[in-house]
Amino acid sequence: MADLALGRRLMERLDALARFSDDADGLTRLYLSPAHKRAANALADWMRDARMAVRMDALGTLVGRYEGASTDAPVLLIGSHIDTVRNAGKYDGALGALAALTVVEMLSRKGERLPFAIEMVAFGDEEGVRFPSTLRSSRALAGTLDPASLDERDGSGISVREALSTFGCDPARVGEAAMSRDAVLGFIEVHIEQGPVLERADQPVGIVTAINGARRLRVVVDGKAGHAGTVPMAMRRDSLAAAAEMVLAVERIAKATADVVGTVGVIAAHPGAVNVIPGQTTFTIDVRSPDDAQRDAACDGIADAIEGIAARRGLAAKVETTHRAPATECDPALISALSEASTRAGHTPLRLPSGAGHDAMAMAALCPVAMLFVRCAGGISHHPAEAISLKDADAAMCVLLDFLRNFAP
Ligand code: GLV
Ligand code: MN
Ligand code: MN
Repeated sequence: MADLALGRRLMERLDALARFSDDADGLTRLYLSPAHKRAANALADWMRDARMAVRMDALGTLVGRYEGASTDAPVLLIGSHIDTVRNAGKYDGALGALAALTVVEMLSRKGERLPFAIEMVAFGDEEGVRFPSTLRSSRALAGTLDPASLDERDGSGISVREALSTFGCDPARVGEAAMSRDAVLGFIEVHIEQGPVLERADQPVGIVTAINGARRLRVVVDGKAGHAGTVPMAMRRDSLAAAAEMVLAVERIAKATADVVGTVGVIAAHPGAVNVIPGQTTFTIDVRSPDDAQRDAACDGIADAIEGIAARRGLAAKVETTHRAPATECDPALISALSEASTRAGHTPLRLPSGAGHDAMAMAALCPVAMLFVRCAGGISHHPAEAISLKDADAAMCVLLDFLRNFAP
């Protein structure tokens, strides 16, 4: 569309949704937080304005249905997540949810009905920042949620169950969120690339081939607290000094394995005083790879290294897995259909893997999945500087619309 109208609409909505934040001086919208609730309410209003029938499931996922040409038409799911990391950018997740809204708005305005219904989904639990595990909302929809994950607690001791009730959802009805796989044709997720490949290739959009698997670990190192001035260096069991060595082991092992990345993103020392030797230190590890066996081997190597460091220093270390998502292949037929739509829109259909995790990983248990990546400036993501251009937003919308108009169930 030469006037970039679809892209403009999408960018306006992205700016509007970004105003719902739990922090006054940046964008932070964690799962089931007050800002998540306000964002979901606004989004539900926009979805109703686009003539979708809107419901919220027991996990807080918004689902909006735009009927197809007949009421018994099969369903194509389109969407992404509306939770964010702390101090986030505006596009990770929101782009996919709002791309779905924008395309339905357009079809609805023109009274255009497709041979399938569209159900737009806005998940709430993709980033996994608030609770130890993640993808609860898409796993519930796919029917694979482990109910035990509702007992997990956030840093303030609030369980997922309690947070759901405060949000206005009924945790007892979680099982009802699962969709029936018979009626679902597939799940399409539009997402910023979060990396530099499209920018380097000078392409506005790309088609994802597979999503890297991820495993997250939580490590608790128990040493002995003591007076920072009186305990001689040789007599210390400093949990933070041990953790420092363990963090470097994570880096060394991930570096030594091709295609594996490892990150320690959170570390906390207790009791946390300038003049006290840290008695206990906890930290997280996030390990990813396109190859599950390789990733698990790296995790085993890391656990062994942690044990060795703890033993040598006379401390105890406990390593537990808090999240596991296998590497996920995207569907070849949907990849081809998106590639063809991309070619018709005048772009080279560049295919690339995703290093980041996505709701599509969980949705693959329900139906075929595919992802359309959008170029982002400098490949920057999980950062306020995240940016896409109006032209690229419009290009993504045109590819999505063309894909929908040509998709035959
Ligand atoms: C989500 O953005 C993740 O890949 O951690
Ligand atoms: Mn995301
Ligand atoms: Mn993210």
